[in-house]
Amino acid sequence: MKVHVANHPLIAHKLTVLRDERTDSPTFRRLVEELVTLLAYEATREIRTHTVEITTPVTKTKGLKMAEPRPVVVPILRAGLGMLEGMSKLMPNAEVGFLGMVRDEKTLKASTYANRLPEDLSGRHVFVLDPMLATGGTLIAAFHYLLDLGATEITAICILSAPEGVKAVEDEFSASKVPINIVTGALDEKLNEHGYIVPGLGDAGDRLYGVV
Ligand code: URA
Repeated sequence: MKVHVANHPLIAHKLTVLRDERTDSPTFRRLVEELVTLLAYEATREIRTHTVEITTPVTKTKGLKMAEPRPVVVPILRAGLGMLEGMSKLMPNAEVGFLGMVRDEKTLKASTYANRLPEDLSGRHVFVLDPMLATGGTLIAAFHYLLDLGATEITAICILSAPEGVKAVEDEFSASKVPINIVTGALDEKLNEHGYIVPGLGDAGDRLYGVV
């Protein structure tokens, strides 16, 4: 499994504002969108392409276009929805599926409550959007779900990650033949006893959409 931790001053700046408890929801949403676009740039670095011939106003030349079948972007509801716009800006022709997952706050176990995905993901590179990689439970459950549907490659984009979560995902998929990648804005210090990332940014869903 490949893990890429962004090391960029612009990302660090935006993350600092995002973490600040005084940052309001509209600013938080805008920053998440901007951060995803920056992280997506790295996450799509090895996306499959094919060569095409085109004619510019000056001459004939060869260029690259994204290969078919198109990648699938899967935000994990609810907080991952806040990342969709930023990803779609970079890859507007990707297909979008949805996976609703919730974690039990006591056991920290993730379960699926909704899904809208193509029945067959063979040949597809799936980009999973989940802002917080905490215990890893949600991502592990989501990855199994996508692998069962035949995904050919999976890349998760997470705004923040905890070392415990990254290790859990690594341990679970160490023998996977399907390439699995994680691209994250920062690797934080640890998880607290409630499964929150420290220093983190609190509950991403609440900060995006308010407490409901
Ligand atoms: N989910 C969140 O929204 N925040 C955390 O810190 C951990 C999981």
